[in-house]
Amino acid sequence: MIILAIETSCDETGVAISRNGREILANVVFSQSDLHALYGGVVPEIASRNHIIVLTKLVEDALTQAKLTKADLDAIAVTYAPGLIGALLVGVNVAKSMAYALGIPLIPVHHIHGHIAANYIAYPELTPPFLCLVVSGGHSQLVDVRGYTDMAIIGSSRDDAAGECFDKVARVLGLGYPGGKALDDLSQGGDDSAYPLPRSVIADAPLDMSFSGLKTAVINLIHNKEQKGEPLDPQGLAASFAAAVSDTLVPRTIQAAQSLGYTNIAVAGGVAANSRIRRDLETAAEKQGFNLYLPPLSLCGDNAAMIACQAYFEPLPGVLAHLDLNAYATKGI
Ligand code: KG4
Ligand code: ZN
Repeated sequence: MIILAIETSCDETGVAISRNGREILANVVFSQSDLHALYGGVVPEIASRNHIIVLTKLVEDALTQAKLTKADLDAIAVTYAPGLIGALLVGVNVAKSMAYALGIPLIPVHHIHGHIAANYIAYPELTPPFLCLVVSGGHSQLVDVRGYTDMAIIGSSRDDAAGECFDKVARVLGLGYPGGKALDDLSQGGDDSAYPLPRSVIADAPLDMSFSGLKTAVINLIHNKEQKGEPLDPQGLAASFAAAVSDTLVPRTIQAAQSLGYTNIAVAGGVAANSRIRRDLETAAEKQGFNLYLPPLSLCGDNAAMIACQAYFEPLPGVLAHLDLNAYATKGI
């Protein structure tokens, strides 16, 4: 089964082709981040307009990379939620048009299901059930992956997502957008106890998280130093911040897997690329006897390969079904 997938939920335009789910024949991504960096964050209308400009060219590029033609495709998959609504609609409409014109099924894929599926590409032996820590720019969730499409959130951030917090702190430190990777790079070799930062706990909800207090604490610390004319150790602050985020995520991940009685833990989303979080998860998983699945850095951020893979595991609608498919800015998994 050969599936071409389209991903346009935010500022990455992605097209990929999978064979029987886990084998990726093509994967092309156009990152718009340079276009948005000027504004310090994603501008939704600019994202939508640029998806329109590059998408059909990327479809051709993906087919060329896979050495296939449109006639070889068995289905078209698309991210339909959650994300920026205008951006999603571009992908959904191109996918609908292609499915209609080719007379093949259209498979809607939830973006978070896709992030989780990045692990199926990297680890052919991984099958549900397992616990997945999903950490991206918009989500921080502990997901009970009971089956390929049967999932439940058992813990989540009550406010900001971890990635959002990385981006805000990076912006105040003048590291540009998106700042997660730059902050990670800055933290290398820094003293992670240079600044005492809060680790929030939610009373009566041990698997839930909060990052807004941490974000505010870091921003206030930077502004206070500026106002008093005191020197700041940016490297130590970056390391202290990464440690605080990791200390929030890692013990909850272990606790969640223990409470479900699972032996496998996977990680997904852009923040899964963070070196401190990866290192701490590896140490904790080894100590507690869990198998840990970390996607390669190339599959952590937004891409269409993960959508093409997940689409294979979604229930297949009848030919030409779902042409009334809509996009949703928010949608539970
Ligand atoms: O999954 P993703 O590409 O998009 C969403 O679905 O949101 O995640 C993007 C997020 C951004 O906040 C970005 O700064 C963060 O992932 N990120 C990182 C790293 N690489 C990307 N955060 C921390 N450390 C990194 N190395
Ligand atoms: Zn994402």
